[in-house]
Amino acid sequence: MKEIIGDIDIIDNTQESCEVVNITKEENNIGQKKLYIESYGCQMNFSDSEIVSSILKKEGYTTTSSIEEADVTFLNTCSIREKAETTVRNRLSEINQYKKKNPELVIGVLGCMAERLKSKLLEEEKIVDLVVGPDAYRELPNMLDEVSTGQKAVNTFLSREETYDDITPVRLNSNGVTAFISIMRGCDNMCSFCVVPFTRGRERSRDPFSVVKEAQDLFDKGYREVTLLGQNVDSYKWSAEQNNKARLEKIESTEIVNFANLLEMVAKVSPLLRVRFATSHPKDITDDVLYTMKKYDNLCKYIHFPAQSGNSRILERMNRTYDREWYISKIDRIKEILGDECAISSDMISGFCGETEEEHKDTLSLMEYVKYDYSYMFFYSERPGTLAEKKYEDDIPMEVKKRRLTEVINLQRELSIARNQRTIGKTYKVLIEGFSKRSKSQLQGRTTCNRVAVFDAGNHKKGEYVNVVVNDVTTGTLLASAVDN
Ligand code: SAH
Ligand code: SF4
Ligand code: F3S
Repeated sequence: MKEIIGDIDIIDNTQESCEVVNITKEENNIGQKKLYIESYGCQMNFSDSEIVSSILKKEGYTTTSSIEEADVTFLNTCSIREKAETTVRNRLSEINQYKKKNPELVIGVLGCMAERLKSKLLEEEKIVDLVVGPDAYRELPNMLDEVSTGQKAVNTFLSREETYDDITPVRLNSNGVTAFISIMRGCDNMCSFCVVPFTRGRERSRDPFSVVKEAQDLFDKGYREVTLLGQNVDSYKWSAEQNNKARLEKIESTEIVNFANLLEMVAKVSPLLRVRFATSHPKDITDDVLYTMKKYDNLCKYIHFPAQSGNSRILERMNRTYDREWYISKIDRIKEILGDECAISSDMISGFCGETEEEHKDTLSLMEYVKYDYSYMFFYSERPGTLAEKKYEDDIPMEVKKRRLTEVINLQRELSIARNQRTIGKTYKVLIEGFSKRSKSQLQGRTTCNRVAVFDAGNHKKGEYVNVVVNDVTTGTLLASAVDN
């Protein structure tokens, strides 16, 4: 998959999407009220839209893929970069035409932009009826009642406890094979460039038993891969004592469930259920997590491990709490324990406040050292209210930011091709996710390392594991053939 950020192509082979729109699917139950949701931003938002759909399903709503027939339209929004917010504002003005045609249409803004702007959004965007932050979705039925009496509704309360762990998400846009499971919410890190701690609130971990149950239910329904989601999964921590003493005995002699324990619990659901996770923060990943990944074949050998920059002074300004040497030592540890075959990807920001040309080159040299399989690459976009906005000047001119970003992207493209080329002639087990984007006679699946392989369908179908041999590669795809055994 490719996405466009600004006017620059971004290589994006994994499932995270930053400015991609995801739309609710048709259910078409006649007579029911219809909900249409567009989700922007990260996987957490996509996962939250599934929670929102579930909450409203209980109120008699069904989802639709057509805004024209919707009674309620929600935009689940992102604030991570300025462009993410501009996209939503442009979309709101487009949606105005539907509201003109159908003045009864309720328009709600959900997610991070709702949380950041609160009731100001109602003043700025007149067509919006309802503004709700990420921790207040249980209030949606009441808020919709309020709106039906002609009032506007706002709830941007951030919670220290809410994890929605009792809500079974309605799977939207599902391929029936892969699904996301949120394991925590919020973020307690204060990376100086980042708006997330302000829009998502304090970090909290979800009951591990509800996570395992959700994974088991998905497996029973035929799903074969789950991705455990959190802003910083390595700091997952759940204490039985704090949450529910009666459950203590169920956790074999551990009082606290950490991320390595949780990974193991989910891995044990079935060897046929693949488990992925995102995102790992370099400061928190432990050897325990790496050894657990090694122990279970179904724990996928792929770590999204955002560096953000390869220069220690910039990392300090970013408040990432590690330096270049620490980051490199963690990369070495991953390679030592899991081998060079484990795929590693990163996020990189070009042109952060005060970044010199030399410091930018350190990012390039870090990329060369690690040889990332993929990266998500951005130029710095100052966000109101963040530490960086208060402390540092956004002093790198846009054309310099873009030029540096282009250098980062070009290097990543070379690295991705080189990493992919090493797979030629080798055989990999892939989980089939469906037809390839180009043709119905071809299927596509992923390797454990999250590489997409495309091959002739033969008798194979979605949801199966199949071995494929790689014949050729592009930047983002392995061109393969199924090996029938
Ligand atoms: N929790 C994850 C990242 C979440 S945001 C982590 O810690 O890695 C996804 C990515 O967006 C970040 O990793 C960062 O690279 C990018 N990002 C965040 N704020 C940004 C900003 N103000 N400008 C440009 N990119 C930003
Ligand atoms: Fe943002 Fe840092 Fe938290 Fe990631 S870890 S969400 S970059 S504050
Ligand atoms: Fe965007 Fe919020 Fe995710 S700001 S990246 S939708 S946590």
